[in-house]
Parts: sequence; C-alpha cells; structure tokens
Amino acid sequence: MDRIIQPARRISGGLRLPGDKSISHRYALLGAIAEGETAIRNYAPGADCASTLRCLRQLGVQISTRKAAEAQSEEVVIAGCGLQGLHGSQEALDAGNSGSTIRMLTGLLAGHSFRSVITGDESLRRRPMKRIIEPLTRMGAAISARDGNFPPLEIEGARLKGVEYSLPVASAQVKSCVLLAGLLANGKTRVTEPLQTRDHTEIALAQFGAEVERGRRSTTVCGGKPLQGQKVTVPGDLSSAAFFLCAALLFPDSDLYLQDVGLNPTRTALLDFLSGMGAQIKLLNLGETAGELVGDIHVTGGALRGGEIDGELAAALIDEIPVLAVLGTQTQDGLVVRGAEELRVKESDRIATVAENLERMGAELEVFPDGLAIAGKQPLTGTEIESYGDHRIVMAFAVAALAAKGETRIKNSDAATVSFPTFFEELERVAER
Ligand code: S3P
Repeated sequence: MDRIIQPARRISGGLRLPGDKSISHRYALLGAIAEGETAIRNYAPGADCASTLRCLRQLGVQISTRKAAEAQSEEVVIAGCGLQGLHGSQEALDAGNSGSTIRMLTGLLAGHSFRSVITGDESLRRRPMKRIIEPLTRMGAAISARDGNFPPLEIEGARLKGVEYSLPVASAQVKSCVLLAGLLANGKTRVTEPLQTRDHTEIALAQFGAEVERGRRSTTVCGGKPLQGQKVTVPGDLSSAAFFLCAALLFPDSDLYLQDVGLNPTRTALLDFLSGMGAQIKLLNLGETAGELVGDIHVTGGALRGGEIDGELAAALIDEIPVLAVLGTQTQDGLVVRGAEELRVKESDRIATVAENLERMGAELEVFPDGLAIAGKQPLTGTEIESYGDHRIVMAFAVAALAAKGETRIKNSDAATVSFPTFFEELERVAER
C-alpha cells in the first residue's frame, strides 16, 4: 500500500513506543530454553518479533497470550522447554524479514541434535550468514547455505564445544548467536567484539540465571547450566523513538514527550549525538527493569548544528542512520557518515536507498562505500519514495515528508509493520499541520 504524507508545522504531544524489538527477541528465545514459565509484557508488536514466536512454536514451544494482571496490556507467555528441549520441525522455519530471528535462533538450533532448515523473505535471503556459519561450525555444527553465505540455511545440530571467538564484524546479532549456542555447548564460550554493540543478550542472560561473566569487550557463558523462566517487561524501543525525536527536531516549536523508553547505554548514542548537535533533550523518571534502564524523554525543537558519525559511533547508531541522514539535510552544517558499511547489508542497502530517496526529494549528497556526506540547509520537495520494503526507510522518509514542500507518496509503506505497526497513526497524532 502507498501512503501520502503532508508537510507539518510542528510535532507535539506524548506517546508510548512499542516494546523494544531487540529485547523482545532475546526474552522469547531465552524463555523457550528456560525451565518453567516466562511472561513477557509489552512484547514488540511488529512482524519481526512475531516471526521469532512463529518459529519457536514450530519447534514445539507452547506460547500463548493473556491479559497482564494489573495492566491493560497483554503478555506473551512461554512454557520453557529447558536446554536442548526444542523439537525438530519437518517444515522449513520462516524468519520472515528478521535478521535477528534467523541469526540468533540458528545459534540455538546448532546445539540441538536434529536437522533444521530456516529461511526468510526475499530481503532476508540476500543477507550474509557466513558470519554465523563460521563460529557455529567451529563449535561443531554443520551448516550449509546458498553460496555458502545466504539463506536458506540447513543446520545439522550437534553436541557443541565451547570456543573462544573474536568477531570480525561488530554485530550484536552474531555475538548473541554465539552466546546462545554457548549455553548449549560443553564448557565455556567466550566472545570478543571489535567495538561495543548492544548488550541486551548479556543482560538477559544474567536475568535468566545463566552463568555469565563480562569483561570490557568480551563475554563468557558457561554451557549446560539450566536457565529459569522470568516475568519481564520490555521497555519502549529507542530505535522507534528515533523517528519521532528526529521529526520533532525538524521544527523549532516542537514539544514531544516519550514515555518508558529503553535507555540502555549501548543504545543511547542517539541521544548524545543529537544533544551534541544542539538538541534540547531531557531524561526523566529513570528506572530499571530486568537490568535494562528505562525512562521518559522530553524533546523540544530548535536549530541544530551538523555532525559526523564514524567508527564506534557508526556501530552504535546503525539503525538510526537513515533518519539521521534525513535530519542532516535540515541542520546548519549537514551530516557526514563514514565507517557504516554494515548499512549495505541491512533489510535494504541503506546507503543506496537513503541516497536515492534524498536525491528524489531534491537533496544533494555524496555517497561513499561506507557512508554519505549530506550538506545542511537543503530544501526537500515532496515526491514518490521507493521504500524497497525496508521498514526503516519507510519511517525515515515519512519523517522527511513532514519537512518537505508538497505531499510525499511512500510506496510499500506497510513495511513499517516489521517493527512498528502503529507508526503512521502515531505520527498523525503528533504532527500538527
Ligand atoms: C540487532 C542488531 C543490529 C541491528 C538490528 C538488531 C539486534 O544488527 O541492526 O536491527 O537485535 O541484535 P547487527 O547486529 O547485525 O548489526
């Protein structure tokens, strides 16, 4: 479906974001191999996290939903099967559009002594999997893939052995895949990453009772130790909040309040980066749930300087770069992004899809193999946007449309449901025209 977005004058009001996608996947996967029941409140409502539940059901896990006791919301309830308690599926598992599902679940499948096939949609079937095949093979699994790299993956699980593994790419999905496999392996598994990436797996492992030790850039898990089911609440997704924060920052008169957002320090580089450009952002009501920091965010509009993203910052902002690129066109000095080659292997080649759509809107920019340079103070014109079925491209350009002259048509806008099914309703609620 296409969606037409009209320009806006300001962003105001309050909203509560859907549950964090990264944390939801992890709670579901750990709940499935824990002992006893896991109840997850505010489980992410998007298609990606539904893919994780669908695959787990296919592997014999009982999953239901029920009304949460004192809240209005529902909770996802998972009857844990215990370590190595999943059952093989005759049918191929379908991870849909979700890189997190295929990469992290393959870690668990590698440690179960049955054969599995896992695949996904057209976009997922183009995404690199060698990065997980390599460490899992070292641990003792046999995995074959199209051209040795792409889904479908055929996994012959085995009794794994613990390894010491240094990640060649900064990827929380790969780190998590190896740590989850490590839970099912003999002995200890130690993963070292080149740059700090989101640490939700490490936090959730401790919460579910795994034996886990953390160093500066390395984490060690001890295999064969049973996990305990938990009652957990997922904080709001800061990467979804990013679209609203950037939308608010397009207009000097904006005033937006976001409630109960996840503020894990490995995710909040966005807030520091925006503040560094001059944004007025206040954090309130800080608290903690299951080891994850949570709080409210109050943002008001105002002029922004430009900024540069490189190296460690590129890894920390990886999901927010498309909407930051949009915002960059409206800053004083623009935005330079380098060291972000991982963007090329996301749901779309996000360097190419951001560049193409900014150019369609009349912006000028320079494209590098690992990033973009976008001048500031560039007027945008409403036009047709090619989303390539990528949820973050849909949402980033819905934000761009608010600052454009004339209306913008976003093709295949339904892709937003991958992470944020109510995105357009919420955007219309806070956009003043
Ligand atoms: C995620 C990690 C990131 C991110 C993705 C979610 C996760 O991917 O882009 O949206 O939940 O671990 P990589 O780890 O591949 O960079």
